Amino acid sequence: MSLVAFIIGAGPHIGAAVGTLLKQKGYRIALGSRNPKIDETKAGFYPVKVDASSPESIQAAFQTVNAELGPPNVVIYNAASFHPLPTPEDPLSLPLESLQSSTAVGLGVFAAAQQAIAGFRSGVHKDSSKAFIVTGNLLPFITALPSYTSLDIQKVVSARLVETFATAYKKDIRFYFASLVSPSGEIPEDFPKSADTHAQVYWDLINGGTQGNWDHRFTLDGKKLPGYEKP
Ligand SMILES: NC(=O)c1ccc[n+]([C@@H]2O[C@H](COP(=O)([O-])OP(=O)(O)OC[C@H]3O[C@@H](n4cnc5c(N)ncnc54)[C@H](OP(=O)(O)O)[C@@H]3O)[C@@H](O)[C@H]2O)c1
Repeated sequence: MSLVAFIIGAGPHIGAAVGTLLKQKGYRIALGSRNPKIDETKAGFYPVKVDASSPESIQAAFQTVNAELGPPNVVIYNAASFHPLPTPEDPLSLPLESLQSSTAVGLGVFAAAQQAIAGFRSGVHKDSSKAFIVTGNLLPFITALPSYTSLDIQKVVSARLVETFATAYKKDIRFYFASLVSPSGEIPEDFPKSADTHAQVYWDLINGGTQGNWDHRFTLDGKKLPGYEKP
């Protein structure tokens, strides 16, 4: 059995930390981004070109990963798209194509999950943990912030898709929208220090057995935020 993880939106922060930890745990790692670094091959990673705003690009990238490493049993969807407002506090000053491209990255979760589930169900991973984790934030859960309109719509779309899949496939696949928050449950200031925490939390979610709350909020110490879930 070959354990394979595909990180979509793999960069120097979360992607590098998650990839390094999973590699230590025996995984083969595909690092996907629009401009993958060929040097990563030397470090034992497999760089893959993928644009998360394009379903066709996601499909092609999975074909490559399936052929080169085997189908992933873990997919991390870490890509994000943020366009600042041309006029502060005026969300309708955002060019329509900026909103469309950010929304497309949110919708990319559908194409990626569709590709992932084919591999999860292929039989190769009958006995492997199967997990699809989207790097989230609090935007879907708080009052809309006009200055973040593009990223907000992306995260709202992807959170809803994760909730849908977590509900539908809870029997044997884990779907999480995992968000670092501050100790008081708000937007965190310590995100730049959180790469290793993300890696440990994702590892725990991958191996956590049954599906927990798809909306997984955690703090810099890696612990689940207490008290945010509805009774
Ligand atoms: N919890 C919070 O409050 C919070 C705060 C900040 C960020 N975040 C989330 O953290 C994630 C990113 O974190 P990070 O620090 O790991 O970022 P990072 O180190 O900058 O890596 C992200 C990588 O994604 C790639 N990327 C961007 N757009 C892409 C696309 N359309 N298709 C494929 N790859 C793409 C970029 O590489 P290329 O340019 O080569 O494509 C980049 O290297 C995002 O999901 C973001 O929303 C959460």
